[in-house]
Amino acid sequence: MSTLHPDLEKVLLTEEELKARVAQLGEEISRDYAGKEPVLVAILRGSYVFMADLSRALDILCRVDFMSVSSYGASATSSGQVNIIKDLSDSIEGRDVIVVEDILDTGNTLHYLFQILQARHPASLKLCVLLDKPSRRTKPISADYVGFTVPDEFVVGYGLDYNEHYRNLPYIGVLKREVYAKD
Ligand code: PRP
Repeated sequence: MSTLHPDLEKVLLTEEELKARVAQLGEEISRDYAGKEPVLVAILRGSYVFMADLSRALDILCRVDFMSVSSYGASATSSGQVNIIKDLSDSIEGRDVIVVEDILDTGNTLHYLFQILQARHPASLKLCVLLDKPSRRTKPISADYVGFTVPDEFVVGYGLDYNEHYRNLPYIGVLKREVYAKD
């Protein structure tokens, strides 16, 4: 097991736990989409590690595409509006789409994004999240595939950041309060 980063209070999910659960999700999705060719749509940047591992855990034909979004800013956050910074490369019309996200928190981002994607007439649209924080939800959205349900703690690693740091940690840990409290 990797050494604990000094900015972290504890490890929440080890590399081994993540690997085992991602393999299970891969099996489940491969079963559900047998004979189909889903498009995995990763929402950058947090999902890049999960996307890389999940896509390799599938044993069916699939495509990958990427989208980058951001909140409009503090005043617009409550309305849940998001800004598309990078759109998908290909059309999703008539395709089976699985959105791949690192974390479902308030639900603002994905609730809005799903409206955008649904309007493009995919054959189906599902959501796969590595982490679910249901205690924070303010929008009516839930995931079809969930890796782990986590408590309301500041989690980083395996793609998740704080100020763009810690994304490359191979495990998921809880950030020490003193690290983010000073900002
Ligand atoms: C994270 C995550 C989701 C969103 C979830 O992205 O990847 O997109 O927040 O939060 P919500 O449910 O409250 O909308 P973030 O904005 O941190 O960007 P990043 O993926 O580039 O780190």
